[in-house]
Amino acid sequence: MTVNGYSTIADRVFHRPPPDPTWHQLLSRSFVHANELMTLYVLRMTQTYSLDGNTPFGAWALKYQATYDPIFAPFNHLDRDQIRDMLLTVLPSTRFVIELFEFVEQSLPELLSGRSAEDIFFAPSQIAMWDRYFNTQNELYQVNNEMVASAAVDQLKSGQFICEIGGGLGSAAATLADRLDPEVLANTHLTFTDVVPIFLTRARRALANKGLSIKFERYDFNQEPQFTDPDSFEFIYAVNALHVAFDLEKSLGYLRNRLQSGGALVLVEAIRPQLDWPIYPEFVFGFFRDFHHRKLSPQRPKAGFLDANHWVKCLKSAGFSRVDVFPNIDLNAYPFVITARFTAWK
Ligand SMILES: C[S@@+](CC[C@H](N)C(=O)[O-])C[C@H]1O[C@@H](n2cnc3c(N)ncnc32)[C@H](O)[C@@H]1O
Repeated sequence: MTVNGYSTIADRVFHRPPPDPTWHQLLSRSFVHANELMTLYVLRMTQTYSLDGNTPFGAWALKYQATYDPIFAPFNHLDRDQIRDMLLTVLPSTRFVIELFEFVEQSLPELLSGRSAEDIFFAPSQIAMWDRYFNTQNELYQVNNEMVASAAVDQLKSGQFICEIGGGLGSAAATLADRLDPEVLANTHLTFTDVVPIFLTRARRALANKGLSIKFERYDFNQEPQFTDPDSFEFIYAVNALHVAFDLEKSLGYLRNRLQSGGALVLVEAIRPQLDWPIYPEFVFGFFRDFHHRKLSPQRPKAGFLDANHWVKCLKSAGFSRVDVFPNIDLNAYPFVITARFTAWK
């Protein structure tokens, strides 16, 4: 796809034959293209400021510029508004993403003066913005939910018990319900969890007519689960949640303990192409305190988002012997995919 003469990495990716035939279907050209353009858009945002490398945001933004300036050098003539227009042409629902990023940008003076991101981002007046972002209509986000749903469609059989971790406002569960075969759907029992009680209330409302039997439970994945009835599951899944676990390997181990033998833990996560490459979602999520507050280890050498190799290492260190990664490609060669699914089998 060429917009205003812009044709770059996404096009090269999609002219290569997919090593795994399903991945071009799930991770469409417009998705990769929009991620690429969002990366460029955030590059332009960071170029608006004189950055102080001694602050966490300044250090991150300088690293971001050092990583992406050379890649996007052929597009130095494109200004921010042109990039925005291209994004909205390639994938119109990117407006929900742009809305969030521009809100964070407007909040930068307050954020940089030390006011907490949690206070600014989660003010009651901002809830509708998050609703629009974590929404099945936001295609750039929805890919994450589709990746979990496709694993569920492949793996679930009628009558099984499944559990969602960090389910938020319910967009992954809603997608899964929409994709499952009606017979399987009617006989699947979901335990839907999150640590934030108001999210459970909202998810209950959002999932009321989806045809799933659902139990809602508050669960903090930094703690050993206290689930009863059932106390174990055939399938546990989480979308963009576990990267904020304080001790990731321990949390993964807790979840493994709650899987039945032969069961699967399916995680979809934003990933860095390489461990030290910043990615554009950090412009927003990097402001959260939990994002940086981590126990580090050789398997989890860095806070924030990981690359795919380290996710596999963490899952193996938590006791999973087999971990499948989707898409099964050398993600270094596809820097704008930035999302992957990990299926870890017990
Ligand atoms: C980025 S959101 C993703 C939400 C949802 N999975 C989705 O895709 O729409 C991360 C979710 O993880 C939850 N979360 C954060 N820390 C958690 C914890 N310690 N235990 C359980 N859930 C947590 C948040 O409340 C939030 O709902």
